[in-house]
Amino acid sequence: MTPTSLRPDQFSGASTLTSLSPPLLSIADLEVSYGGTTRALRGVDLEVPRGAIVAVVGANGAGKTTLMRSISGTLGLEGGRIVRGRIDLDGRDITRLDPADVVRLGIVQVPEGRRIFSRLTVAENLRMGAFTTTRAAERAALRRVLDLFPWIAERMGERAALLSGGQQQMLAISRALMSQPQLLLLDEPSLGLAPIIAEQVADVIRRINRAGTTVLLVEQNTAMALDLGNIAAVLHLGRVVRVGDADELAASGEIERLFMGIDDGATSGAK
Ligand SMILES: Nc1ncnc2c1ncn2[C@@H]1O[C@H](COP(=O)(O)OP(=O)(O)O)[C@@H](O)[C@H]1O
Ligand SMILES: [Mg+2]
Repeated sequence: MTPTSLRPDQFSGASTLTSLSPPLLSIADLEVSYGGTTRALRGVDLEVPRGAIVAVVGANGAGKTTLMRSISGTLGLEGGRIVRGRIDLDGRDITRLDPADVVRLGIVQVPEGRRIFSRLTVAENLRMGAFTTTRAAERAALRRVLDLFPWIAERMGERAALLSGGQQQMLAISRALMSQPQLLLLDEPSLGLAPIIAEQVADVIRRINRAGTTVLLVEQNTAMALDLGNIAAVLHLGRVVRVGDADELAASGEIERLFMGIDDGATSGAK
């Protein structure tokens, strides 16, 4: 009743993916706690096929950010710990690797709230994202970023603090792209942005994916997540309670029903 893995041929857009290849990222029975008490993840299973956009939706506190931190190796910096389970990239065990090693293997996280270096210039922010790469690779990555975001070329010497919220999100994504990741982790990319700006961010994510980068994103904004994702998963209280083709889940209205059920306790009478 809770399918937790999907073959790539089970979601739309599968024709562009190699349907028989193993998943790029595979998460099995992941359990995470903070300070030994809070169980933020309670046995998460999730597969991210190469070339896909996988969208994880869930209410505030569901464990979305914890999932991202577990993959990127930054969990320890936040007082969290993987208690059980395993994360594989391309069949290689990456559970509990250092953040820098995870980046070297091609996974980069764009954290919730962007966390750009606001006192540094745009150019300096981009350079921070390229710490694992060679000069030549950095130049190639920069060309790709400027191709996606032509406006960045004119703002290179400016302090990042002077950019708008949407531009800061684009810069945070650009910084992540500077290491030319194979898997991009996006934590609530639309958070705090006006709908029209969020739509621009969604477009950019689509273009990045079409150019070959696999994307795992978490969102409270289910409309954006279902629109963007090939596959959608619902995270509730640290468990994946539903996973499936994003278009089918959107059409079925199932996620809204799940969310209403989920929200009942927390926001009783709010609607
Ligand atoms: N650094 C932390 N220390 C202790 N508890 C945390 C920490 N970060 C998150 N949590 C707890 O873990 C649970 C999942 O949080 P989080 O992963 O941030 O959820 P989401 O991103 O879906 O809102 C929540 O109960 C939250 O309070
Ligand atoms: Mg979060």
